[in-house]
Amino acid sequence: MLNEDVEKVLITEAEIRYKVTEIGQALSADYADKDPVLVSVLRGGVIFLADLIRTMSIQVTIDFMAISSYGPATESSGVVKVLKDLEEDIIGRHVIVVEDIIDTGLTLGYLLRNLGSRNPASLNVCVLLDKSARRILDNLPIKYKGFDVPDAFVVGYGLDYRQKYRNLPYVGILKKSIYEEAEKSSGGID
Ligand code: IMP
Repeated sequence: MLNEDVEKVLITEAEIRYKVTEIGQALSADYADKDPVLVSVLRGGVIFLADLIRTMSIQVTIDFMAISSYGPATESSGVVKVLKDLEEDIIGRHVIVVEDIIDTGLTLGYLLRNLGSRNPASLNVCVLLDKSARRILDNLPIKYKGFDVPDAFVVGYGLDYRQKYRNLPYVGILKKSIYEEAEKSSGGID
């Protein structure tokens, strides 16, 4: 069972639902009549995006990017490769990047430079979890934020460890024993 691999539940399903609704309402107020493009990064951000847009009362467009990081799996290098680009042309559009978690901020930094170069009317960030203890890149325009999380590896509500645990309805800290065993043999946390 997935639950057994979780050390501690950090944010419950009900807490997430309440917060997502709050953010959705704020976005609806701020972007009324702007037909914003909500850009989610595959795959982790998809669950947050899916719940978020259903709390919004305004017209929205959704789009997706897929990126992969280079470098060691345990560390984000900020050097990323675009595996799937947007379908939409975002020039002159109001863009909101919807992310599951910001850790070092390097991936988001890259994404903002990439999207910013396409001349959107505005570019903001909406993130569910902020792991600020490990931040390398500051001054990110995080306008909408769900929760602060401690410096621990968390899973659930879209977040994975080796593609598992995304479907947990809550956010929890993964037991160290799960990844320490796996780390010994190969790879790392991605
Ligand atoms: P950053 O470039 O270090 O900010 O990397 C952000 C990405 O790393 C996120 O989009 C996640 O895919 C992944 N990540 C960072 N911390 C965690 C975590 O605690 N659990 C699962 N994935 C994480």
